[in-house]
Order: sequence, then C-alpha cells, then structure tokens
Amino acid sequence: MSWTLARRTEGMNPSVIREILKLIERPGVISFAGGLPAPATFPLEAMREACARVLREDAGGDARARQSLQYAASEGYGPLREWLAADLRRQGLEVGAAQVLITTGSQQGLDLVAKVLLDEASPLLVESPTYLGALQAFAPMQPRFIPVPGDDEGPSVEAMAQAARAHGPARFFYLLPNFQNPTGCSIGETRRAQLAERAAAIGLPLVEDNPYGDLWFDAPPPPCLAGRDPANAVYLGSFSKVLAPGLRLGYLAAPPALLPKLLQAKQAADLHTPIFNQRVAHEVIAGGFLDTHVPTIRALYRAQRDAMLAALERHMPAGGVRWNRPAGGMFLWLELPPGCDASALLPRAVERGVAFVPGAPFYADAPADGSAARSLRLSFVTASVEQIETGIAALAGAVREQTDAACGDADRAPGRSEAGPHPLARSANAFVGRGAP
Ligand SMILES: Cc1ncc(COP(=O)(O)O)c(C=O)c1O
Repeated sequence: MSWTLARRTEGMNPSVIREILKLIERPGVISFAGGLPAPATFPLEAMREACARVLREDAGGDARARQSLQYAASEGYGPLREWLAADLRRQGLEVGAAQVLITTGSQQGLDLVAKVLLDEASPLLVESPTYLGALQAFAPMQPRFIPVPGDDEGPSVEAMAQAARAHGPARFFYLLPNFQNPTGCSIGETRRAQLAERAAAIGLPLVEDNPYGDLWFDAPPPPCLAGRDPANAVYLGSFSKVLAPGLRLGYLAAPPALLPKLLQAKQAADLHTPIFNQRVAHEVIAGGFLDTHVPTIRALYRAQRDAMLAALERHMPAGGVRWNRPAGGMFLWLELPPGCDASALLPRAVERGVAFVPGAPFYADAPADGSAARSLRLSFVTASVEQIETGIAALAGAVREQTDAACGDADRAPGRSEAGPHPLARSANAFVGRGAP
C-alpha cells in the first residue's frame, strides 16, 4: 500500500524556524531565534479572573457558562467582533462587526486568504523578505511568488505596479507595514499613501498583516493601508502579541464581497475558534485592559531593544556588520559582511551558546546580490537584558571567527563599515554598523 500525495503537498515544507528551534533546544543556549513574546507579559491574574467569570453561574443559571464550552458560531463571538470593529474604526478602518471574522490565530487568516484567493500559478506579490509563516500558508496553493523590491521607505510603488502586471493580474499584495517580521522595518506614511493609491488605481487587492502595530516604542505607526480603500483590502490582526499567543486568537476584516467565502473556508477548517478563549479574551479586554497593559509590553520591549542595540555596538567587530534600529515590534535585522553566510554561522553560534534565525528562508526568491544568505533575524523580546548582553557578546565572537576565517578581507575593506542606505532600511530603521557615522 502506498500513499499518493496531492500535488499541493510539494509546496509544503517544514518550518525552518521550528526545525532550528528543535536544534537549539539545549540547556544554556540563549535564543534570539524564536518569535516568542516575553512570558512575563502574559496577564495571568486578569486571565484567571476572566476564566472564573466566564465559567461562573450567574443570575440566569449556568446556561451562559455552559455556552462557553459549547459549539459556537463560525463568525466568532458577537461582543468580541463588535469590540474589534470599534477598535479598527478608531484606527481608520471603517468596518462593521459583520465584516469581522474571528480566526484561530492570524495564521489561520493567512491560510483562509490563500484558500479563497489563490489558484495554481496565480501571481502573488510579497515583500522581500517577508513573514515565513505566510510563505508557508500560501505555498500549498502553488502560486507564483513575485517579490517586490523596496527602499528605505518600503516596497517600491513602481516595482509593485510593474510586478502586478508582469505575469497577468496579481491576486493580491501581501504586506506587513508595521515592524515587519523578520526585519522590524515599517512602511513610511507617504509610501503607504502612494502604495494604497496606486494599488487602487491598478485594481491590485492588498492583504495587510498587522500583528505588531501596537508594539510601537516612540510614536504610533501611521494609519493602516486597508483603511484607505477597504473594498480592496483584507486586514489581519492578532491577540498573540498583546495578550497571549496560546489563546490562538486572531481576526480578519474583509469587504462584504469576500467575507462569505472566507467564512465558508473557516467552517471547513475548524468550524469555529474556541468560544471559551474568545469569551475569556473579551472579558479581559472589554473594560479597557489593553490601554494599560500594552504600554507595559512596549516599555519592556523597548528596554530589550535598547539593550540589544547597545550590546551590538559594544561587541560586533568593526567592518561590515550592519543592523537596523526597529521602532517597535520584536525583531532586529542584521547583515554580515560579503562572503559570510548566516546559515554557516548558526552552528558556530550555537557552540558558543547563542542562536538566531538565518534570513534566507524569509525570501520567496533571494535577491541576486547575496544579501539574503548574509542576513539574520534577532528577536530581542524573549531573552532578558542580561542574556542579551551575554548572547550578543557570544554572537559577536562567532561572527569574528567567521569573518576571520571566511572573509578576512571584509575587515580590511574600508567602504564596508560605512552605513549607506540599505534596501531594507526604512526611515527610522536605517542600517548602522559599529563604528559607522
Ligand atoms: C507577521 C505575522 N503574521 C502572522 C503571525 C501569526 O500570528 P498568530 O497566528 O499567533 O496570530 C505571526 C506570528 O508570529 C507573524 O509574525
């Protein structure tokens, strides 16, 4: 007996990150690899109380409590959808609760969008690099990925327009405007307006993924792209980074023309997102909890980002190692000098007790300049400030070893330490290197 796999399984691959996480799960390794929110930010007390309230018998008997353990509507818990619609309107996205679909993490939103909008060989525009989990969600539909290059303000408007035409009308452009995973970069206000305007003009739909937008350090990000042309956009959000990822609670807002199909795909996938989790989350946030909770996450992550920047400045060898200064989110992007390779660096780093994720898997199609192989993602939120100092010192040791062995020239090449504009550096996130101006 032999199994015949569906053709779409050719597009399914194990998550490189999860494979790496398995390799580095040894005691003592400081990990900058995973995208795990800091457990200290999980609101244990508020969750305990909310769970108790959701399960408590009330004046109407225990019917409501039992409902939280029953099958429920595929669209999601009504009061939570209302809350989200109001929140999205505050951010400039004019939607009603009927346009909000609760998803089992925003990862499911990506999967539903893929199922509803992609056929085999459908042209699909993505940033370069982009979120690996989105590539994983889209790949089984076997679309034709078209990376859109950018500059320090975000994806190029011209490149987007050209890419949207080049292979027939693209199904959508998948974008992460705020503190992107993996780079930590954001799209500037002017570029947002230009992208949205041009996309509307050429009839290119947008899928905007925004799990990190609330985690800003200095100033809130500009309004979302979806709000500028809601009929032309799907917006994805998540409670993973502001409450707890284990709740598996995300949401999407879609135009009325699209929502019924997304809902049908959701029904087929899992009937509904756990109603208990939805009611607990609603119980926690309904009274304005996030208004005080999220600033504490921002303060913690900002201190961790600052610690990582300071440690990089202190420890990285001069001559060609460059990194950005994210204005929010969880990740920092680092580029090694020419001739170096982040995948080859990883085992050396793990030897020294520190781990990261190489950048190459985040590219649908690596650029010809070799920068993908030289880049790596560092999460600054899971390790403590002390661990960040130790981990970056260890990483710098591994980098020094690799640059000495493989690209000794880079240390001597004067131009490499200059921090020129980098294709991935967006405004506040311009790349810097140690010793750079
Ligand atoms: C850009 C992006 N989108 C979506 C997700 C999925 O988030 P979740 O399914 O936990 O809501 C993540 C998770 O890290 C992410 O970084």
